[in-house]
Amino acid sequence: MEKIIINGQKTLTGTIEISGAKNSAVALIPASILSDEEVIISNVPNITDREALNEILEYLGAEVSFDKGEMKINTKKISNKEIPEEISKKLRASYYFMGALLSKFKKVKMFFPGGCNIGSRPINLHLKGFELLGAKVIQEKNLYIIEADELKGANIYLDIPSVGATVNLMLAASKAQGTTIIENAAKEPEIVNVAIFLNNMGAKIVGAGTSEIKITGVEKLGKCYHEVIPDRIEAGTYLIAGALCGKELVIKNVIPEHLDALISKLKETGTKISIENTQITISKPEKFLPIYIKTLGYPGFPTDLQQPLSTLLTQCEGTSMIEETIWEKRFQNLDYLKKMGANIEYEGNKAIIKGKTELNGSEVEATDLRGGACMVLAGLIAKDKTVINNVDHILRGYDHIIEKLKNVGAEIKAE
Ligand code: EPU
Repeated sequence: MEKIIINGQKTLTGTIEISGAKNSAVALIPASILSDEEVIISNVPNITDREALNEILEYLGAEVSFDKGEMKINTKKISNKEIPEEISKKLRASYYFMGALLSKFKKVKMFFPGGCNIGSRPINLHLKGFELLGAKVIQEKNLYIIEADELKGANIYLDIPSVGATVNLMLAASKAQGTTIIENAAKEPEIVNVAIFLNNMGAKIVGAGTSEIKITGVEKLGKCYHEVIPDRIEAGTYLIAGALCGKELVIKNVIPEHLDALISKLKETGTKISIENTQITISKPEKFLPIYIKTLGYPGFPTDLQQPLSTLLTQCEGTSMIEETIWEKRFQNLDYLKKMGANIEYEGNKAIIKGKTELNGSEVEATDLRGGACMVLAGLIAKDKTVINNVDHILRGYDHIIEKLKNVGAEIKAE
């Protein structure tokens, strides 16, 4: 698929069911390497990032199957091979094989990971943590050789509460000797989901979801059955769609408290939202009030919803502002919103959006995964036809996006 074509200004009504969280699944799949027996992971989203991780596991010699969201993984016979760069650079989460293979084999050779072009994305905190656990890190251009005679528990303070470093260090420490404490850990729900998975396999991790995680190393991890939590970013994207053009649009299978920051901001714009257990109903309000958002680690406003929300800010009556504090290049989508008619100025990590402006269907680019979601939302409210190029970015993280939107009344197709 190369393009998504949308004929905008249709009302969305009905139910959208949310899939499993991408950023949880992409950590759970590499984490399965730590088990000496088969693990089963359910509610795995059908996205291309999952396919890339599947490819890596099979390359290493694992037995993998994927059927209706259930992934069975047996890594008993895997060998510790260098993962070819053309596979590892397909996605960011390939870096979780560093922690997982280091834990299993005490040695890993891996290339710098890929992922969206949204900033410099260093992995220094992951490497520093591995070193504190007793590993030696050698860098040859973009290849990393990480090796340890033995991994030993340590106190690790993260300069930044990095999601990736927190997960990678939980993986590396799960079978290390003694106790590891990760301080200033990231608190995202996906980290809790990974810690529960590891604990189900026999690990001893406490404190995930707080800024201090304690891991007591164990010798062996075994089989388990585990479910991926609902994708709060996918749910947030469809909530924004509901605010923009929904009439009692129901977003089903969500954990509402994972969306507190977005819901509170949507309410500030004047959007009416009703929450009942695991579903949220949302409709377009008569008008939107302008808002200020600043992206932060969980439970702050998620950077991954900043780009989708920018479409809504073009519809607010007055001046809205975005301050992006996580990724320095996460405004590329704004140029395309401007092409569609938005009034936006941005510099450094701040953007000012003045509204309300009509958006006109245009030919635009999915600059990255969430930038692509921003364009889909813009296409849904724009006059006439919007053509989005480079949609592979979108398919990396949104399970059946076209079908889900079509089912609730959008005129959207792939070409
Ligand atoms: N950072 C460092 N050094 C490191 C690691 C991170 O300086 O060693 C910095 C980053 O440059 C960034 C900040 O710390 O400024 C936070 O980065 P983090 O490590 O938390 O991000 P990540 O693990 O690479 C994950 C998600 C991203 C999401 C961020 C923040 C996955 C696979 N990716 O990335 O998701 O934006 O956390 O929540 O879990 C997306 O889904 O579209 C996406 C980009």
